[in-house]
Amino acid sequence: MLVASASPAVGSPCLPRSPGGGRGRRGGGARFGMIAARSAPVSVAPILKKLQKDCDTPVPVLRHVADAMAADMRGGLAADGGSDLKMILSYVDSLPSGNEKGLFYALDLGGTNFRVLRVQLGGKEDRVLATEFDQVTIPQELMFSTSEELFDFIASGLAKFADKEGGKFHLPTGRKREIGFTFSFPVKQISIDSGILIKWTKGFAVSGTAGKDVVACLNEAMERRGLDMRVSALVNDTVATLAGARYWDNDVMVAVILGTGTNACYVERTDAIPKLNGYVSTSGRTIINTEWGAFSNGLPLTEFDREMDAASINPGEQIYEKTISGMYLGEIVRRALVRMAEEGALFGKSIPDKLLTPFLLRTPDLCSMQKDESDDLQKVGSVLYDVAGVESNLGARKVVVEVCDTIAKRGGRLAGAGIVGILQKMEEDSEGLIFGKRTVVAMDGGLYENYSQYRGYMHGAVTELLGTELSRNVVIEHSKDGSGIGAALLAAANSNYEHDF
Ligand code: BGC
Repeated sequence: MLVASASPAVGSPCLPRSPGGGRGRRGGGARFGMIAARSAPVSVAPILKKLQKDCDTPVPVLRHVADAMAADMRGGLAADGGSDLKMILSYVDSLPSGNEKGLFYALDLGGTNFRVLRVQLGGKEDRVLATEFDQVTIPQELMFSTSEELFDFIASGLAKFADKEGGKFHLPTGRKREIGFTFSFPVKQISIDSGILIKWTKGFAVSGTAGKDVVACLNEAMERRGLDMRVSALVNDTVATLAGARYWDNDVMVAVILGTGTNACYVERTDAIPKLNGYVSTSGRTIINTEWGAFSNGLPLTEFDREMDAASINPGEQIYEKTISGMYLGEIVRRALVRMAEEGALFGKSIPDKLLTPFLLRTPDLCSMQKDESDDLQKVGSVLYDVAGVESNLGARKVVVEVCDTIAKRGGRLAGAGIVGILQKMEEDSEGLIFGKRTVVAMDGGLYENYSQYRGYMHGAVTELLGTELSRNVVIEHSKDGSGIGAALLAAANSNYEHDF
């Protein structure tokens, strides 16, 4: 008999709460850090087959996801709470023109690292004159700390970086340094430079921030640190990516992040936003942060997804994100492998305890296993051994690669369907806007950048859904680290000081 899944109910899905992990041991099975597989194992094949069937994404499923995404976008634009999608107003109504000038900072908080950047913008001709950046890893414990502790840590990183400002950067006398703050969590924006945190995602569980203005939290921390800087724009990473990509290419209409978490934003006409409540945009357009990670309609889910969700710190939330983004793919694979090891003796008679540790297998591990082209799948064997302490034969390694491929394929294809849903909605509202000319979707995030199979599946789904004719006009382009410059550009556009761009 299997003991039911007992992954941590609190804390980060990245951090197992109890050593040895999420599943209980069967009576008498545990010895020397190993547990026994079922004594009369069933074959692994039916478990794999069921997984593949449950993860299947034929065109009708993708079509449904695209249509439902478009419908949920409309629901979220109609009223707050009108659908799973929050469709958050960004208060970014004009995108960079290229004329922006001066020294600006960007601060990016959204995952395991935070990045700081300074850029000297030189206007239309000179564009980016100089940039410098720094990246600081956020200690795991700060993901569960208090708001003050987290923001103090960030302010101190920012202060150290600001201290090192060299001769290439110039700030006119009498001005404060201005920052574009990229905060990659769902925030209800109140204005371009303030916003209330709705909830943490991606395993963060910092106390005392939800319901607070995150810009005020940062300003207070900067004051405590004696740092004289001002946040002039608060933006989501998708919005910063869109702004950064648009600086170089006027056809950019959508930006998508596929990294630890996932999200998309796009340029919307204000007359298509019923919930505007009197807000006027001078350009008649604004960027909408969809927060599509919360989408859930009609997704092909498996028992492993359900178990992972139930054990997460936000059960029932961010279902699309949990199905397609980098934080979760490895964990879904691990859960499937544990089932195969326990019931089908995939790795022989005993299973190392280590494999039972939640979030042990990470998406980069899947990626490097899928890259293995050797006859004996040596790399797969070494990842399994190094990461999970598992000894594997060639047959088992092949199964592991199939499982990785199944989960990456589903994720990539569903991400592609989401992109088509957004394009479809925009085209339905303004015929020819998207498919009648070149339209660029700016992509960023480690998952998209590094996992070639995933990326290939995503592109494949877009082409299958749009057909070759329409997809010719849709350019899906990597905008590497565009969000840093994007946030700085938005800080420039919303500067407190007089400017003529
Ligand atoms: C957050 C989004 C963010 C995305 C990508 C999600 O978990 O809710 O705000 O844009 O991750 O970083």
